[in-house]
Amino acid sequence: MASFQYENVRRQFKGVAESDITWEAALVSLIAILKHELRKISWVGFYRNIDSHLWVGPYQGKLACIHLKPGQGVCGRALAIRQTVIVPDVHAFEGHVACDALSRSEIVIPMFRQGQIVGVLDLDSYEPNAFDAEDQEELEDLLKAIESLPDRVA
Ligand code: SME
Repeated sequence: MASFQYENVRRQFKGVAESDITWEAALVSLIAILKHELRKISWVGFYRNIDSHLWVGPYQGKLACIHLKPGQGVCGRALAIRQTVIVPDVHAFEGHVACDALSRSEIVIPMFRQGQIVGVLDLDSYEPNAFDAEDQEELEDLLKAIESLPDRVA
């Protein structure tokens, strides 16, 4: 089921990433595709890393928290350890920041650009235990595919 949904994500995103596109535009498009295709998602978006503080970027879903301090929440943890964090039950994660009280599980993937960690991609679900190793692999691959897209196109 999830594999089929990711196939749709990959197919649409391939078209986007192969066009004459900036990194920012690819990111916004990726968020739109993920929100539309992955049924289990309640929220998906990007937080930018500015001196280890995270500031909300493009997203789809309910109004989100604007600023996360260094190390704060699941996003802050992923930024600090520079690795994907999967949280099957957000109530069991000490320090989880509840932007939406209905959220039950979460995955946060670090985003790199020229070796620098520029932010994180965060996906939330109202279903408990919604994310697994397949999500991690698919989402990390998608971010890798846009990592070196330019800031500007001629
Ligand atoms: N739950 C996140 C905060 C961001 S919202 O989910 C959109 C966290 O604990 O880092």
